[in-house]
Amino acid sequence: MGTGRHPDYVLAVDPCRGDPCGRPHTGDPGGRPYTGNPGGRPPVRASASGKVILLGEHAVVYGRPAIAVPLSGLRATAILTPHPGPFRVQAPAVGIDAPLPDLPPDHPLARIVQLTVERLRQPPPDALLRIESDIPVASGLGSGAAVSTAIARALAAWYGVPLDPPTVSALVYEVERIYHGTPSGIDNTVIAHEQPVYFVRGRPPEPLPVGGVLHLLVADSGVPSQTREVVGDVRRRWEAEPARYEALFDRVAAEVEAARRAIAQGDARALGERMDANHEILREMGVSALVLDRLVEAARRAGALGAKLSGAGRGGNVVALVDPPAADRVEAALRTAGAARVWRTDVFQQPQRHEDTK
Ligand code: MEV
Repeated sequence: MGTGRHPDYVLAVDPCRGDPCGRPHTGDPGGRPYTGNPGGRPPVRASASGKVILLGEHAVVYGRPAIAVPLSGLRATAILTPHPGPFRVQAPAVGIDAPLPDLPPDHPLARIVQLTVERLRQPPPDALLRIESDIPVASGLGSGAAVSTAIARALAAWYGVPLDPPTVSALVYEVERIYHGTPSGIDNTVIAHEQPVYFVRGRPPEPLPVGGVLHLLVADSGVPSQTREVVGDVRRRWEAEPARYEALFDRVAAEVEAARRAIAQGDARALGERMDANHEILREMGVSALVLDRLVEAARRAGALGAKLSGAGRGGNVVALVDPPAADRVEAALRTAGAARVWRTDVFQQPQRHEDTK
């Protein structure tokens, strides 16, 4: 499987790789010796992973269960450097370089800063916040939630106040509402906990027992997916045909439950079948696209155990489950079928963390 040799590969061998699970590093953002701000405090940095939904998207908005896993090798990073006030935000990827008061209050970056400092009962610090991210935007990989999570963690570290994953998740959920309208909460949950989760809206997330290593390929179609629009479209269809959509959501729920059992038993073949079935239901819901069907079909023909669109759909990414010997072949097929990028990640039983035993 992924060895890190290929620049597009990630290997989620350690969910806290490069970032001690939200406990931030200090030091220069570029990894060079820190020489600025003599006598002052060093920068603080914190990061958060991307995510991929394994099964259950859309139906999860309507109270059905879903399963999601972190993409720990793809990360958003927030770096806070001492800087004369007011608090300044730099997000070069989206062309933002502005003092906080100049951003609209409902801008997602301004909102997460405001919500976090309110929660910490502190003012915005005299600092420059710089955002860096390897997670492509509008690709269904949780870029927005990861940026918000990294910012909340960095501010908490700046003030030396630990924020536990449920608290971070709740703050990020408020910002997700700006991006998504009616989010289920699965993205902020899997990213803030950075653990595979079985998730039902409105309930605390359940850790997902994983009976064997799952080898996943995630392929970006290169076509942007606007979650808010696709979720809104499904809502209109559900309002127009409630019985039909409720039945589709129930079928998804049955696939998620079967997948959960397959994952616990380490039965990758059974899981692959459930992923295939879930993709067909998503097609019936009207959220797939030719480009996604083509990638899914290519992965299956090349020997994937299962493949489906992941996230909101219409664009974004597909996820394929593979046996390690088939991984190179499936990846090549995905690229030939038009994937802009392909990442690899492994999912396995997570060690219990302190916060999970509370
Ligand atoms: C988006 O990552 C997943 C959806 O189910 C929306 C949501 O759960 O909020 C499409």
